[in-house]
Amino acid sequence: MKNGQTTMTRRKNRLMRAKKQNVRRCYCEGHCPHGQMNGTCEIKHGGQCFAAVEEVHDPDTNTYEPEVTYGCLPADERGLMQCKGYLVPHLHGKSIECCDSEDLCNQFLKPHYEARTTTPEPSILDQVDNTMFVTLLASLTVGITIFLLVITAFCLRRRRKENRNKNYYTKKYPDKMPLDVTLNGTLSNLMEQSSGSGSGLPILVQRTISKQIQMVQSVGKGRYGEVWLAKWRGEKVAVKVFFTTEEQSWFRETEIYQTVLMRHENILGFIAADIKGTGSWTQMLLITDFHEHGSLFDYLQTNALNPNSLLTMASSIASGLSHLHTEIFGTQGKPAIAHRDIKSKNILVKRNGECCIADFGLAVKYLSDVNEIDVPPNERSGTKRYMAPEILDKSININSFEAHKIADMYSFGLVLWEMSRRCTTGDKIAECDPYEVPYYDVVTNDPSFEDMVQVVCLERYRPRIPKRFETDDVLITTSKIIQECWHNNPAVRLTALRVKKTLSKLDTDTTIKIV
Ligand code: ADE
Repeated sequence: MKNGQTTMTRRKNRLMRAKKQNVRRCYCEGHCPHGQMNGTCEIKHGGQCFAAVEEVHDPDTNTYEPEVTYGCLPADERGLMQCKGYLVPHLHGKSIECCDSEDLCNQFLKPHYEARTTTPEPSILDQVDNTMFVTLLASLTVGITIFLLVITAFCLRRRRKENRNKNYYTKKYPDKMPLDVTLNGTLSNLMEQSSGSGSGLPILVQRTISKQIQMVQSVGKGRYGEVWLAKWRGEKVAVKVFFTTEEQSWFRETEIYQTVLMRHENILGFIAADIKGTGSWTQMLLITDFHEHGSLFDYLQTNALNPNSLLTMASSIASGLSHLHTEIFGTQGKPAIAHRDIKSKNILVKRNGECCIADFGLAVKYLSDVNEIDVPPNERSGTKRYMAPEILDKSININSFEAHKIADMYSFGLVLWEMSRRCTTGDKIAECDPYEVPYYDVVTNDPSFEDMVQVVCLERYRPRIPKRFETDDVLITTSKIIQECWHNNPAVRLTALRVKKTLSKLDTDTTIKIV
């Protein structure tokens, strides 16, 4: 009791003393002065009692909870805690409220608190997700970079190849003569002007012509690409546009056409060749004379021949082939050339009834000075239906130039058969056979190599010669030529020159008879 009275008295005394010294007591929790456990602290004049609220992170729930602390704020306090509202920026979820009106006045203060609006710190799972995301992003970036590098390398390789091609082309066919750069006059004028060179128009003229071409309409498609009717200054020309896969055919054909002394009335008239294009695409063009009747194949579908027209056509083809096969000696000489893809689709019908040979994409040249044949670097092979037996059974010596010429003659024999079938016989009622491709009766539309070997080599089958051929002098002769051309033994086949001479003689003989 005495003790209780003493404590009460001591507290009263202290309060009295405090009042006298202008000291105030504040409620404290969390901010009690060091070692003071009784839940109060003292402030002198100018000090403040405070209640502060602060968000505390709960790692278990990964949330923030408000926590209120109480204490004394001496007058000389210079920390973050100042009785001016928020302690630190609001975002951090801290605030303070102060008082000094009476002892323990801060006990009932409720400092303003607003829950934070920012998202909590990411959890471990989030961090794992983030790590995965970053890894994914990094892999994607690396992947895209590699892809772009591969594409760039591919484009560069392609560009280099194109440049190589262009350089090759320019080196091989440099400008040799002063040009009529204004390109006045007609195509035939231009061709005549340059005929002295023997190998076609200068390259710059070819490029200029190619730039000035206006495409009109597509007139044919093949495995090489597409042929268009086009116009150059109002004159009709044919433009063969090669598929990019047929680059080697374009090279070879362009090269062959520009061989000296290639120009001949029965070889398709070459005008210009050009490669157009940017980095990503190239267009290989070949500009030639246009023949409105189209190919012999197309012509024979709808037109019958008579012995005269047959003779004209057949001897013109033989003449073109003979020119091609013949080497011309001299400084401006011409090498011997074998075609290797003779067929009715590669022969065009001219307005004067003669024909001309086209498509030299597979041709081979004979270089007599070095006794070598210049085989094109080309995957392409001839048309299976027209392949000679020695090509089919692979017995041909591909290094022998003669062998290629003789194989051309086998194909010519089949073309002559196609033409002869369409030639009429009979005085009163003229009759002919419908158009058919060779071996139409024994193989399918697109025969395999094996099909052709079976028929041509193993069975030694050849197209049937109609009986009615025996009734006409011209057809009697063409029948003989046909059979001598498609003979199984290459050594006994006729040469193009022999065929040409035989047909010319027949022509004069029939003319004499008519007269
Ligand atoms: N088809 C293929 N080449 C041709 C040409 N030069 N003229 C007409 N038609 C063709």
